[in-house]
Amino acid sequence: MSRIEQALAKAAAERKRTPGKLHGFDDDPIHSKQLELTPEMLYGMDPRIIALFGGASAAAEQYKQLRTKLLRAKKLYSHNTVMVTSSLPAEGKTTTSASLAITIAQGLQETVLLIDADMRKPGIQRALGIDPQHPGLADFLSGRITLEKAIVKTPLPKLSVIPAGSIPGNPSELISSEKMSSLITEAKNRYRDRIIIFDSPPVLSLTDSIALGQKVDEVILVVYAGRTPKEAVKDAVQSLSEVNLMGILLNHFDTLPLYYGKYKLKRSYGYGYGYGHGHGHGYGHGYGQSGHKPEEKDY
Ligand SMILES: Nc1ncnc2c1ncn2[C@@H]1O[C@H](COP(=O)(O)OP(=O)(O)OP(=O)(O)O)[C@@H](O)[C@H]1O
Ligand SMILES: [Mg+2]
Repeated sequence: MSRIEQALAKAAAERKRTPGKLHGFDDDPIHSKQLELTPEMLYGMDPRIIALFGGASAAAEQYKQLRTKLLRAKKLYSHNTVMVTSSLPAEGKTTTSASLAITIAQGLQETVLLIDADMRKPGIQRALGIDPQHPGLADFLSGRITLEKAIVKTPLPKLSVIPAGSIPGNPSELISSEKMSSLITEAKNRYRDRIIIFDSPPVLSLTDSIALGQKVDEVILVVYAGRTPKEAVKDAVQSLSEVNLMGILLNHFDTLPLYYGKYKLKRSYGYGYGYGHGHGHGYGHGYGQSGHKPEEKDY
């Protein structure tokens, strides 16, 4: 049994399983049954994330669609590692990676390992209500702890987390280290039914995400709708030319004015996202919309 295998098996065995109620979702061809989230499972999480799952939210529906795309990529190409990044800070990377992880963990087949690879500005513990002192990725990569000690079990039976851990002095070195590469390779090859999601720093601030993006199967670029400058998105896409950019997720879509540039938006959708050409380098409609400033309103 490999190191990761042992660590995850132990985490799973120790986990106090909460039985969940099941109900069907007709719109999800891959997972027809889901775990219904209970207040206990969401306890301590960022209220914004709880709000996403607190009913029939449009954003939750968008995450389900994104999950479907990811699960198809896994089925067709055995892609099971995905990194979430953005051009600039505070566009919603952590919110997106945590929400996507929860959405996938609601399914009955895939388990999810969410790894906070933004070691300078970790956010996953806050988003999911994990003890901020819990050791994590940085401690493991620095050789201070075993992987097993870095894994946090969550009240969601299929979701485990590796938080960022103690803020290191050399995050870029750790990200591009051999140990990080072997962690990804091992996770990718040994756990075909596990989706591994990496939260990461913004692309235009640091090279960490570019290095990490080249090691994972898929990359999602989060764009703050109406705020991220078109040039920043362009530059980020360019920087990510060597990665497999799965698509752009348009975050804060719901806060846009009704008319955004020349586009008339459907306000019923909380989030929007665009996809490229599946598994090449590309981007979808989200990029175009993000580049148009609203003509009439300030926001
Ligand atoms: N769709 C949304 N609607 C409302 N608030 C949001 C949304 N997405 C993110 N936020 C909020 O915006 C803030 C920044 O989001 P988040 O931490 O996910 O961004 P980030 O890209 O990870 O930031 P950083 O670059 O600092 O790591 C948080 O307070 C988060 O709760
Ligand atoms: Mg973040």
